Amino acid sequence: MCGIVGYIGNKKAVPILINGLLSLEYRGYDSAGIAVLNSFNNTYKIDFVKDKGRVKVLQDNKDLELLQGNVGIAHTRWATHGSPSKENAHPHLDNSKTFAVVHNGIIENYLELKQKLLDNGYILYSETDTEVIPNLIHLNYKGDILQAISKTLKELKGSYAIEVISPLFPDKIIVAKKDSPLVIGIKDDEKFIASDIPAALSHTNKFYFLDEEEIGIIEQNSVKFFDIDLNEIQKDIKNIDWDAESSEKNGFEDYMLKEIFEQPNAIRETIGSRVSLDKNVNLELDDIDFKNFNKIYIVACGTAMHAGIAAKYSFEKFCKIPTEVDMASEFRYRSPLIDEHTLCIFITQSGETADTIAALKLAKSLGSTTISIVNVMGSSITRISDYTLYTHAGPEIAVASTKAYVCQVTLLNILAIYISERLGIENSDLNIFKQSLLELPEKVKDVLTTIDTIKEIASHVYNQRDLYFIGRGADYAVSMEGSLKLKEISYIHSEAYAAGELKHGPIALIENGVTVIAIATNPNIYEKTLSNLEESITRGANSILVTNQRIINDKINYIINIPEINPILSPIISIVPLQLFAYFIAKNKKLDVDKPRNLAKSVTVE
Ligand code: G6P
Repeated sequence: MCGIVGYIGNKKAVPILINGLLSLEYRGYDSAGIAVLNSFNNTYKIDFVKDKGRVKVLQDNKDLELLQGNVGIAHTRWATHGSPSKENAHPHLDNSKTFAVVHNGIIENYLELKQKLLDNGYILYSETDTEVIPNLIHLNYKGDILQAISKTLKELKGSYAIEVISPLFPDKIIVAKKDSPLVIGIKDDEKFIASDIPAALSHTNKFYFLDEEEIGIIEQNSVKFFDIDLNEIQKDIKNIDWDAESSEKNGFEDYMLKEIFEQPNAIRETIGSRVSLDKNVNLELDDIDFKNFNKIYIVACGTAMHAGIAAKYSFEKFCKIPTEVDMASEFRYRSPLIDEHTLCIFITQSGETADTIAALKLAKSLGSTTISIVNVMGSSITRISDYTLYTHAGPEIAVASTKAYVCQVTLLNILAIYISERLGIENSDLNIFKQSLLELPEKVKDVLTTIDTIKEIASHVYNQRDLYFIGRGADYAVSMEGSLKLKEISYIHSEAYAAGELKHGPIALIENGVTVIAIATNPNIYEKTLSNLEESITRGANSILVTNQRIINDKINYIINIPEINPILSPIISIVPLQLFAYFIAKNKKLDVDKPRNLAKSVTVE
């Protein structure tokens, strides 16, 4: 939610900031703005440009040429308080135009702070929560900027990652964070501040990660950190092994298509040296005593939660521990029955999702052991969780998650085998299962060859109003994710049902012109799902079947054949045609697949 970037160095800041914003647009794209310190005869002043719309609108703004300085901050917004407009766009300045601030997060007590400012004679021009920050800094400034910032931060309730510039300190950018991410890229005498690593990856692989309630003073040649009480703290630089190319489109029309095609490799990297035949799975969780657990909770949001649902079967089959999957936003408010005998697994691509962070904190406070499955290195959840296992999907830029999902399901399955082995549960199928896991990258590569068939099918159904996905077991889990992908990027109404449930209500919605997509990959139950599809066809539905069984049925409009695999792993294969289906439907509707309306990739508000 909202992306912020900053630059201080020996180059003109604007082009670097614009590039940073473009690579962070997946975090929000309602409006954008830039502020730099311009100097004239050694006197500095803040100049800024901001507008409603995407970064492109900012790029085309002629006034940008006036911003010549080499210290600057920038923002791309996902509106929370106040609709997208020029007034509400960041940066926000205090009344005296001494401090410019960009902010990602939500100031929950902004109304109270606003009143305090009004009482002190300040005027607030926007509807945002952010505008209170530069004005509070101004109110608190008594000659020492660090004191003013520390005092201001202590007054804020909620979440923030902020950057502050001012003619009072023209050679510095001051940053601070709480519950919203901020990284600082280091390269000789240049520093790159960003909400997310990819925005600075083309400049450096070396990063500092700001922790909760920490303040950073960034200069061209130095970086200093303080806690909120202004005690200086030392931090280590972390090397990030993602390469800049992985954040580019590499000839693909969209990030989403590129990321769909990166899946075989992403899965290969995620398996890495963790799994090999005739050896136990290797994960760095040796000091956990798994015998201690009588229950597993898997908690996440959106696509990550669907990955949990797809992997639940594996935990129950291999670990013989009852496993529940819950959405983080529900889990935290329903007083879950957890204690030190509960293992809680959190799944998140970004590592920054506010609901997941809150659920993780709750689980820890109740004494459970927490393991997080995360894609973004050094992200907030990796610093809170007891243990972190990384998916190695590389940077995922498209808002709709694809490669992170398949890697999450893969890694969860690896974890299930690991726990099973650590518990010493006899299972003669385990080696065969590992063999199937190792075959995943090639099978996903095979399933990508269905692209032309799917493009053709999408061209016939893209103007439909309603679509239903049905499946049983793991195929039902995939139905949910396929339906979410379609909703997210094509704006077509769609729902997923356990195939057996269709007749208990939803079948009333089936009529001529409705499309039903069945996923049927489990040799033991696929025929039942086929019967449910036939029941829909009888009532006038168009039908699409995704299957790895040999099925000849001329009543079905389209059959997509995919490779066979162990039913527990089938979500990793069968989701691929559904991702492509959603993609081509959106392309047919001429929609922006990478930046669907109203969504953001990293949801740092509750
Ligand atoms: C947002 C994104 C989804 C994502 C979910 C969880 O809603 O739009 O694509 O699945 O957040 O994100 P996480 O980073 O925690 O996996």
